[in-house]
Amino acid sequence: MILITGAQGQIGIDLADALVAKYGDGKVVVTDLRIPEVLRKGRIYDVLDVTYMESVKKLLNAHDIDTIFHLAGILSATGERHPELAWNVNVNGVRNILEAAQLSGCRVFWPSSIAVFGPTTPRHNTPQETVTEPGTMYGATKVTGELLCKFHATHHNLDVRSVRFPGIISHAAPPGGGTTDWAVDMFLQAVRTGHYNCFVREDTRMPMMYMPDAVKSVIDLMAADNEGISVRTSYNLTAFSFSAGELAASIKKRMPDFTCSYKPDFRQDIADSWPESINDSRARRDWNWEPQFDLEMMVDDMLENVAKKPFPSEL
Ligand code: SER
Repeated sequence: MILITGAQGQIGIDLADALVAKYGDGKVVVTDLRIPEVLRKGRIYDVLDVTYMESVKKLLNAHDIDTIFHLAGILSATGERHPELAWNVNVNGVRNILEAAQLSGCRVFWPSSIAVFGPTTPRHNTPQETVTEPGTMYGATKVTGELLCKFHATHHNLDVRSVRFPGIISHAAPPGGGTTDWAVDMFLQAVRTGHYNCFVREDTRMPMMYMPDAVKSVIDLMAADNEGISVRTSYNLTAFSFSAGELAASIKKRMPDFTCSYKPDFRQDIADSWPESINDSRARRDWNWEPQFDLEMMVDDMLENVAKKPFPSEL
């Protein structure tokens, strides 16, 4: 049986769809702090607060879990506003999951982030092994989580795998509290109102990925041979990079009346401390990582899907 924590979040909704499609109904247990009002088919719903070790252990036993996709976490902008919460959920959460997984012999996937990098990291084509001195609490929790993963993999032989996600663009569930959320919000506002007031500068360029590729990366990494996995902290990963102005221009090409203004807030400093582009050659070499969507394909697909459902349920 498969467990997803934080399953109502941006990645969880789409990953659960893919896992149910791959393994069939009744094999995926989706957990979060509460059970959503609208239930999707094929999943088993349960409640889990990952900061409570006893609850984690009980849940793994109750559902006979062998693989955990541990997605519960607080994102960067929320983490700057609530640093204690970010530390508790992100660090104690991953520590509980890793320790419980070891006791019950589970495999684990856990997402890290480009937020492990900071102002002292090379910003262009950022290498796999480089300076990780983040300026945010979120980044600090992700660096700590990566080191915990490596510790459990090397000292206890735990099969834990991880990627450093760039910004993820999706339409099924809106992201909440991230610095890269402008890229998603721009689509939603373009379709809803024809205008977007962007919270980063026009020239802010960030590495990004479309959700189908993010889901594919998780599934491919977990399916790869154990011997080939040479990175036990977390793999660099990217699909493409674009600036806010470039995304606005790309949307305007398809929606000529769309307008975008720029009013940077505190998230600008976070964005400025993260890489503009990522070198993911280790992932390409070790488990044949290759994204399917380029920028133009992603923009076409996002606009088509957002137009069908311009108001995704706020989670
Ligand atoms: N997308 C995340 C955020 O902006 C980074 O991992 O917080």
